[in-house]
Amino acid sequence: MKNILCYCRAGFETDLANELQAQAAEHHIYGYTSFKKNTGYALFHCYQDADAEQLIQRLSITQLIFARQIFRASDAIDDIDSSDRIATLLEQVDDMPFCGELRVEYPDTTEGRELSKFCRKFSVPLRQALRKREVLSNKPLASKPVMHAFFPDGRTAYLGYSLPKLNSALPLGIMRLKFPASAPSRSTLKLDEAFQVFIPKEEHESRLSAGLHAVDLGACPGGWTYQLVSRGMFVQAVDNGKMDDALMETGQVNYFPEDGFKFTPKKKNVYWLVCDMIEQPQRVAKLMATWLARGWCKEAMFNLKLPMKRRYESVQEAFDIIAQVLNQADVKYTRQAKHLYHNREEVTVHLRRI
Ligand SMILES: C[S@@+](CC[C@H](N)C(=O)[O-])C[C@H]1O[C@@H](n2cnc3c(N)ncnc32)[C@H](O)[C@@H]1O
Repeated sequence: MKNILCYCRAGFETDLANELQAQAAEHHIYGYTSFKKNTGYALFHCYQDADAEQLIQRLSITQLIFARQIFRASDAIDDIDSSDRIATLLEQVDDMPFCGELRVEYPDTTEGRELSKFCRKFSVPLRQALRKREVLSNKPLASKPVMHAFFPDGRTAYLGYSLPKLNSALPLGIMRLKFPASAPSRSTLKLDEAFQVFIPKEEHESRLSAGLHAVDLGACPGGWTYQLVSRGMFVQAVDNGKMDDALMETGQVNYFPEDGFKFTPKKKNVYWLVCDMIEQPQRVAKLMATWLARGWCKEAMFNLKLPMKRRYESVQEAFDIIAQVLNQADVKYTRQAKHLYHNREEVTVHLRRI
């Protein structure tokens, strides 16, 4: 198994492939990528089995921006006879480690989703067959690798495995969230997902707690402010647009019809800075890093809008700017970034002063 296979949002395969190539090179592992546009996945092909084994142990889904899931995969198993799928897949299992879970998956595309019913049904006999071959535990074991049988279409499959802690715990790597009926915009789900992805659950009580102060730049109509308010925070909402009336009535929101690039906090009590302004990524990155460098906030969560073609490169440029500003100010920080399920042409970045 010489391949690393990752899922992504359809249309972002080039960005994912560029990222995989760059990440592999950082680990001194060389190979080539392959993908088809709008299929929702891309592959990195190593030249040797041992390279793929090393790479899957070193790359974590949390480090990758454009990947939703990562696993080591077989070559494509083509022209599968629909009457004999299980036998065909079982021919590949000799290369597999003993696994604690099976996920039969499909691409997150319109055509792919048509396979969801088939995948659900097929997982039952496949699971039984894998248990009989003693490559899958009888009960789910979270400490063991996860086996993935990925069907890009009904006649093609990739078989592979991902490693616990380095993979996404979610089926298809997708976090499904319920839209809160009283939220003023669907964007609210982006910040909700970002908090869940970037902030460990056991730290929500201290880092997302009631009473903290937050600034929301580009706040209107208030989807992100809604997330902060519903966690009991006090929000300074900055935007020239119109804020949702119900949010204003909570008494937890102060509204400032100002330019987010010029706004300065009046008191030194801001914990969170969040920003969803539609602006050049380099400009937003510089602004966020400057707030952190000046000690105007402890943590920042923001979107980099990426309407351009070379998205991976634009994100790297933004990271360089952040590093420049914060290194110059001698501020230590952590950085995480993800193309979240609820994002479109944008990635969400989290910075924290340490
Ligand atoms: C994508 S919307 C934000 C949506 C919001 N996060 C929500 O969940 O409802 C972008 C907002 O940024 C605001 N904006 C753009 N440039 C700005 C600037 N320089 N200063 C303040 N607001 C700005 C726009 O007015 C717009 O309301």
